[in-house]
Amino acid sequence: MNANSPLRTRSATIAALLCLGLGLAAAGTPPQVATCSACHGGNGMGNPLANFPPLAGQPAHYLEQQLTAFKAGTRQSSIMQGMAASLSASEAKAIADYYAALPVPPAPEPSPAPTGLGATIALDGLNPGTPKAVPACAACHGAGGLGQGEAFPRIAGLPAGYIERQFSAWKTGTRHETTLHLMRNIADKLDSTQIDAVASYYAALSPNPSVAKAAPSAAKSGSQG
Ligand code: HEC
Ligand code: HEC
Repeated sequence: MNANSPLRTRSATIAALLCLGLGLAAAGTPPQVATCSACHGGNGMGNPLANFPPLAGQPAHYLEQQLTAFKAGTRQSSIMQGMAASLSASEAKAIADYYAALPVPPAPEPSPAPTGLGATIALDGLNPGTPKAVPACAACHGAGGLGQGEAFPRIAGLPAGYIERQFSAWKTGTRHETTLHLMRNIADKLDSTQIDAVASYYAALSPNPSVAKAAPSAAKSGSQG
């Protein structure tokens, strides 16, 4: 083995890069996180009873944009505006990266799966082909509401009261969307009964259903599609 082989040099570079990345989660926890934890939890999973949303595992870009929006006042929250006001752009990015990298504790999906109006709106949408058409939430937020890419946040397991508050914020214009202007349109087409139903649906879903997949199914029913 040649100590100066290109392979070794490259491994050393990769190791150094990994250290930089891991440093965020380990040694370099942003100092502000101690404050954020009071409401968003030490594990970043929020507080459902108080309607404090989880931040763990959300797309880093999404979280960063929300902090920017709170600071600019384009997303209004008396609590969060104060929290974001003093953050520099690089601090907001470091905090967003930190929370995006936190693991989401696994939990099984509810069984039986929730049905009714909320499930219909989530999975099929409403009034297809009419001016009042509402696309299925799953089309953007992914199967099970687990989110997609950097633009579409996870909505499975968000507190129902928090989801309802976001819909009224879009309707009244106190939450302006950042890059894509999709939720305002959708919010305008849903009435409060429909919003309550879809909020309860997503609040009931697991934010990380990986355990359900791993669960042993010794007695296969054979009726799976
Ligand atoms: C006193 C409680 C409290 C503290 C402390 C707090 N937050 Fe929040 N946070 C909230 C509430 C309440 C909301 C929801 C606001 C709304 O309804 O729009 C929120 C929302 C957010 C969101 C938007 C989440 C989403 O899914 O869109 C982000 C990001 C966030 N907080 C980050 C932080 C960070 C980073 C800190 C620390 C610097 C922090 N928060 C400190 C209460 C708090
Ligand atoms: C066409 C794509 C699209 C569809 C369909 C869609 N959303 Fe969204 N949704 C988005 C985007 C993009 C955002 C992020 C907005 C932002 O940047 O502020 C978002 C954000 C959200 C949030 C805020 C999450 C948070 O953590 O604050 C909730 C809640 C939500 N959507 C619920 C729904 C529900 C419920 C439906 C179905 C009725 C739905 N969405 C349908 C694109 C979509």
